Amino acid sequence: MRTRMIAGNWKMNNNAAVTGEFVKKLEAWLDSDEVGKKSAAAVKDKKIEIVIAPPFTSIGAAVAAKKGSLISLSAQNAYFEPKGAFTGEISLSMIEETGCKYVILGHSERRHIFGETDELLEKKLAATLATKLLPIFCVGELLEDRESGATNDVLTTQLKRVWKNLKGDVVGEKVVIAYEPVWAIGTGKTASNDDAQKACAFIRDLAASDFGRKTADALRILYGGSAKADNSAGILSQPDIDGLLIGGASVAPESFEKIISTAI
Ligand code: 13P
Repeated sequence: MRTRMIAGNWKMNNNAAVTGEFVKKLEAWLDSDEVGKKSAAAVKDKKIEIVIAPPFTSIGAAVAAKKGSLISLSAQNAYFEPKGAFTGEISLSMIEETGCKYVILGHSERRHIFGETDELLEKKLAATLATKLLPIFCVGELLEDRESGATNDVLTTQLKRVWKNLKGDVVGEKVVIAYEPVWAIGTGKTASNDDAQKACAFIRDLAASDFGRKTADALRILYGGSAKADNSAGILSQPDIDGLLIGGASVAPESFEKIISTAI
């Protein structure tokens, strides 16, 4: 059984003060609300995992506010070099030191706004797997790729190179893939349940052909792109979708809690 992940990628939202309040509210909900308590039990039973990815400068506030271990933390990016003259970058060991469990790599905004390439992401993924941090590795096609029927080719290119030197057991146990079609991110246009399932099944089959069925069965694959409480249950009901990476609808505790409720 793969543990479902409900992860909030806050992007450049929620300063330290807001983050502290968010964590307190979410923990209070997990402790006192009826559905919240069921969600807490599901986390303890390893049926679901709740993750938030605040901006770097808010991670400390999340750690300080957090009383229990029901919420896991993720960074949104990292650089692969261990230290040195890389102005503005944050190393993986610096992120480890904060208490984060995960780091998001290759988000479409990193690829398309900041020009991150498959070559760079191969280095970032390998460096992450040399630490205790677990990568949430994002892939996804542009609208023009989808319209020209190139979705599977894009996913293949984005994954083959970065995982070609990895061992199957490492991929299955440590890597989380987030399928985020770029045209669905922040646009309100969610992929249909069927399209999301097809892309995630394709990714799982790619893992099976490169590493074998055991790795493919263990690999967690999330969907991201305008996921919200109205559509989360349908997406999560798909057999190859193991969770959600949520942007806009994860920034406030109330809507994030509603999505968690649909995952338990
Ligand atoms: P939205 O949920 O705001 O579309 O963002 C998705 C995303 O990019 C999560 O990483």
